[in-house]
Amino acid sequence: MNKLIVANWKMNPPTLREAEKLVRALTGSRRGIKAVLCPPFIYLQRLGDLLKAKTHSPKFYLGAQDVFWENPLAGGGAYTGEISPAMLKNSGVKYVIVGHSERRRLGETDEMVNKKIKAALKAGLNPILCVGEGREVRRRGIAAAKRFVKNQLLQDLRNLPRSALHTSRLIVAYEPVWAISTEKGSRVDAPEDAAKMIQFIKDLLAKTYSLKPNVLYGGSITSENASRFLMRPEIDGALVGGASIRLAEFKKIINN
Ligand code: PGA
Repeated sequence: MNKLIVANWKMNPPTLREAEKLVRALTGSRRGIKAVLCPPFIYLQRLGDLLKAKTHSPKFYLGAQDVFWENPLAGGGAYTGEISPAMLKNSGVKYVIVGHSERRRLGETDEMVNKKIKAALKAGLNPILCVGEGREVRRRGIAAAKRFVKNQLLQDLRNLPRSALHTSRLIVAYEPVWAISTEKGSRVDAPEDAAKMIQFIKDLLAKTYSLKPNVLYGGSITSENASRFLMRPEIDGALVGGASIRLAEFKKIINN
């Protein structure tokens, strides 16, 4: 199976010029696996146009880092600062990260994540749902981490319409918060532990919703450690943050 690499650029780079440079350099390489680039909202349209122009690189797709749950008709959009699923769709976006821990830290609840997942699926976007336990939970052991992740998944996917579930566009990213590179004292998860948690997520979703989503690992992925995760059959790909905006580093990850 082809592994999926998702690049979460977060609030980088500071200029459109640099963003364009990154895309040009990446799409110049012919080899590599399927990759989704998730730049900040403000660059989506331009980078989407750039990707479309690179017809020899059909394996790069455009993703957003967040989405709002309302999808109002013209004139009804009284949600200052938010971006609707239709706006993303109309800008050529195919994937959207939902429930990233950095958004949850800013106050996003499971209820909000649930609404976003529903809205994204309804609009025909592929949501990449991020779940993962924090350091305190993990200190209590793997069983506690599994309980936490299970609870998050069940709340985030609550009452999804059957039709939406069975289109199977959902992707899950297991991102233990303590492994995210910008966290103080972060460290990468052990590939075998990540693989076990990912299998646990797959079993849970198969049992509860008859769903078989691709499940990615995220947290301190680099060109040094990526293959140790990607070689595991349980792990369907990687969500890469910091290393995805370092060109040489990210190229190594996707070309490996
Ligand atoms: P990282 O970020 O690869 O820099 O740890 C991953 C993420 O936050 O999605």
